Amino acid sequence: MAANIIRTQVGIVGAGPAGLLLSQLLHLEGIESVVVETQTRKHVEERNRAGVLEQGTVDLLKAAGAGDRMRREGLVHHGIELLFNRRAHRIDLHELTGGRAITVYAQHEVVKDLIRVRIDAGGQILFEVGDVCLTGLDSGAPSILFQHAGDAREVVCDYIAGCDGFRGISRPSIPACVLRFYEHVYPFAWLGILAEAEPASQELIYANHESGFALLSMRSPSVSRLYLQCRPEEDLSLWPDERIWEELRRRFTTDEGFHLNEGPLVQKSVTAMRSFVTEPMQYGRLYLAGDAAHIVPPTGAKGMNLAVADVRILARALAWRYRTGSSDLLASYSDTCLRRVWRTQHFSWWMTSLLHRAAGDDEFSYRRQLAELDQVTTSRAAAATLAENYTGLPFDFPGEQP
Ligand code: FAD
Ligand code: PHB
Repeated sequence: MAANIIRTQVGIVGAGPAGLLLSQLLHLEGIESVVVETQTRKHVEERNRAGVLEQGTVDLLKAAGAGDRMRREGLVHHGIELLFNRRAHRIDLHELTGGRAITVYAQHEVVKDLIRVRIDAGGQILFEVGDVCLTGLDSGAPSILFQHAGDAREVVCDYIAGCDGFRGISRPSIPACVLRFYEHVYPFAWLGILAEAEPASQELIYANHESGFALLSMRSPSVSRLYLQCRPEEDLSLWPDERIWEELRRRFTTDEGFHLNEGPLVQKSVTAMRSFVTEPMQYGRLYLAGDAAHIVPPTGAKGMNLAVADVRILARALAWRYRTGSSDLLASYSDTCLRRVWRTQHFSWWMTSLLHRAAGDDEFSYRRQLAELDQVTTSRAAAATLAENYTGLPFDFPGEQP
């Protein structure tokens, strides 16, 4: 075979959490894969995004052999705070779910760990590829065509996993007439900062304030991650550091005298908020996973966790196919994933609508939110629903294959 043609079992487009974890899970099943990624290794290892890992994500990363550093450095949280009417209310995730927790560990650290285990195991990840294009999706031998280090190359495989995020080429490679899209764009965004400041709280604080939503999260015992609701078209140049701190101080004010720790900002960004689902998540021999197939607003901290849940299902379906010859689990891949996807869409939308103020929202909407927050923080049943969804639906969620 010509040197520019690589033959493998599964071709994976995208070295984000979905693509890398899939490659590792397949490796553990004895299945070969090649990952192609447009960005540099440094870029994907430094891209600051998600921070909250569900219990099931943590367990799967450990089982995949990528959990050692997360075990040492991840911050295990047993609760979160909801702040409204100038008072913080704790939701005891651990107690309400019979012992489940979340772990705060940055997505780019997960990516670093996965790249390391893949490379240590001899896995192939081709960074800095260009002009990626998928062909033969409805044939028995699809391929990924791309440029790499000045050469035209091709990965010929049995199956392709489209793990290339919301703006990748996998979803647009499917004929538009076979897909349906469901979308909701929110009339607000998040202005996010990373600050060299000790987190002012041990646990995450989600705040509903008359001026809009704010979130206190963290990356380590010395780095805070903070967000505040802003307009989708917000111009960052209008937000000098002092204005950001002033707005954060306002939104985190409590009658108990909560004090926000401040420090130098190391990053500022604006993130749009959208809910998006593609149905089905498969066409021919191409299987979409993660953000390539769906997007949730970040309020429920679900995006990366959903990507992980998809590839867990896909790895099992592929393993079943190679072990037994049966494509049954591959055939049900999309339906199996979509059940969790829609449950998670609902939860993320609900958290978002509970905590944000849209321009033009009247006083009635605000009072309604306060009543719902009152219920969530005083009714055990309502708090348990939040806790169950926030820590993550179990992997043996009814409807998923064993
Ligand atoms: P990605 O991480 O987007 O990876 C896709 C990869 O494909 C990228 O490396 C990209 O460079 C590559 N690629 C793109 N096009 C091509 C191509 N043509 N060829 C080859 N490669 C390509 N989720 C949570 O679970 N918890 C949170 O707390 C959370 N917070 C968030 C906060 C913010 C500010 C943002 C922006 C997101 C947050 N998310 C969160 C969402 C989470 O980051 C995403 O859901 C997650 O990155 C999805 O992983 P993925 O592997 O599917 O896609
Ligand atoms: C984060 O730490 O980046 C984070 C935490 C919780 C969210 C979203 C983002 O809901």
